[in-house]
Amino acid sequence: MKFIIETYGCQMNVADSELITTILTNAGFTHTENIDEAQIIIFNTCSVRENAEKRVIGRITSEVSRKSYQNDLLVGIVGCMAQRLGEELKKINKKIDFVVGVDQYSQLPEIIETIRSAELRSAFRIPNSEFRTPNSTFISNTILDQAEIYNDLYPTRSNPLNAFITIMRGCNNFCTYCIVPFTRGRERSRPIKEILHEIELAGQYRAYDITLLGQNVNSYNFENNDFPDLLKKANEIESIKRIRFITSHPKDLSNKLIETMATCEKVCEHIHLPLQSGNNEILNKMNRKYTAEHYLNLIKKLRKAMPDIAITTDVIAGFPSEKEEQFLDTLNIMKEIQFDFAYMFKYSERSGTKAAEFEDSVPETTRLDRLQRLIDQQTEITTQKYKNKIGSIQEVYVECQSKRDSNEMSGKTRDFKITVFEGNESLIHQFVKVKIVDAVGWTLKGIKN
Ligand code: 5AD
Ligand code: SF4
Repeated sequence: MKFIIETYGCQMNVADSELITTILTNAGFTHTENIDEAQIIIFNTCSVRENAEKRVIGRITSEVSRKSYQNDLLVGIVGCMAQRLGEELKKINKKIDFVVGVDQYSQLPEIIETIRSAELRSAFRIPNSEFRTPNSTFISNTILDQAEIYNDLYPTRSNPLNAFITIMRGCNNFCTYCIVPFTRGRERSRPIKEILHEIELAGQYRAYDITLLGQNVNSYNFENNDFPDLLKKANEIESIKRIRFITSHPKDLSNKLIETMATCEKVCEHIHLPLQSGNNEILNKMNRKYTAEHYLNLIKKLRKAMPDIAITTDVIAGFPSEKEEQFLDTLNIMKEIQFDFAYMFKYSERSGTKAAEFEDSVPETTRLDRLQRLIDQQTEITTQKYKNKIGSIQEVYVECQSKRDSNEMSGKTRDFKITVFEGNESLIHQFVKVKIVDAVGWTLKGIKN
C-alpha cells in the first residue's frame, strides 16, 4: 500500500513526518509523492493558530471526496490537531478513517492494518469474531507525561542536504497564548547518544547542515548534559559541517550557550530568539518570564560574542488588552534591535489556553492594523540587512539550481541567507566562498571568490 503525507506547521512536524515515513516503510508500506497513486493520505496538522487549522480542514474536505471513486482510500489525521480535537475531527468530516496524536505514531501500522481488515471483513461478510478488533482508531488526548520519544528510529529524510534532528519533545512553559504544551505534552529530552548518532548518520548521507529541533532547546538536559554540552559534542562530529538550532527561549539562553556558540566553529552565526512583545506588562501576561531589558541585554551579549550573528524572531500583535502604547514598545524595540528577519503574527485565540479567557480582547481590525505596521517596518529592516552584506565574502552551502536562472546555483550562507551565483550542478553539497555583489530583495547575489 502506498502512502503520502501532507505536512503543515513547524519544523517539528516536518521531522515527525520523516519519522512516520520510517515507521510505515519498516512495516512494508511504500512512500509516494503522488497523491493520485496513494491508498493512504495522511495529514500532519498544526494547531498553533486558527488559520492553520482552517486551511487543513479545507484540504481534508477536498481530498476526502476522492473516496467517491477510490474505494480503497484511507484518510488519516495526525499531529497537533489530531491531539487537540481527537474524535471531534470525525464530526467535522465523517469520512476520516483514523486520528492519531503526536505520541502514538509507532502504532500507525497496526491501526491501518486493523481498519483494512475491518473493511475486508465487511466486504466478505465474515463475522467479527474471526478478526482482531482495533482498540480504537482514535488515539489522542492520552496522558502525555510518559509519551514516546521515538528512540532507535532514524527518520527518512525528505531533504538530502539539511537534516532536522529532534533533540527534545514537548514544552513546559505554558506561554498563555500557546496550545503547544497541550498538544505536545511535557518536555522530554532524547538520550544524547541517540542524537549524536543521528547527527553522524546525517553527515554520512551528505546532509552537512543540521538543525537541532525542540520547542525550547535551551532547556535540553539528559544525564547532566545540558544544551551547550550537546553542541560541543556535535561540533566534534566529523561528518557534518554546520550546526543550527531552533527554538531558543530568552529566559533560558545562558552565558555558557553564547560562549559555546562563539567557540564551536561548526555552530553557525544565527539564532532564532522569539521576542513575542516589547512591553513588560504584556510579556508578563504572556507568562514569558523575561523583560524587554533582559532581551536587549541578550542581544548585546550575542553581538559582542559574534559581531555578524543573524538574529531572527517571532512577535505577536494584538495580544488581549494590548494598548497602542504597549504595541509601540514592540515596534520600537524591533527598530532598535534590527532583526534579520521576523515571523509576525496577529494574536489568535486558542481555546483551552489561559489567554483565551482573558478579557479585553483587541478587535480584529486593530490586530490586523498592528500586524501590518510590524510587517512594513520589518520589511525595510530585512531589506537593509541583506544590502549590508554587499562586499563581504560568504561561505555558501550549495543546495540547488536557482529557479530564476539555470546558469546560477542557489544555497545558504552560515547566517541563513539565500545566495545565488554563477555555477553548475556539480557544486551541489559543496561549500563555496562567494563575494557578495548585490542584494535583490531577500536574495544575495555573488561571484565565486
Ligand atoms: N496566536 C498568534 N501567534 C501565536 N504563536 C503561538 N501561539 C500563537 C497564538 N495563539 C506564535 C508565537 C510562536 C510562534 C511559533 O507562533 O510567536 O513563537
Ligand atoms: Fe509555546 Fe511558549 Fe512552549 Fe514556545 S515556549 S512552544 S511559545 S508554550
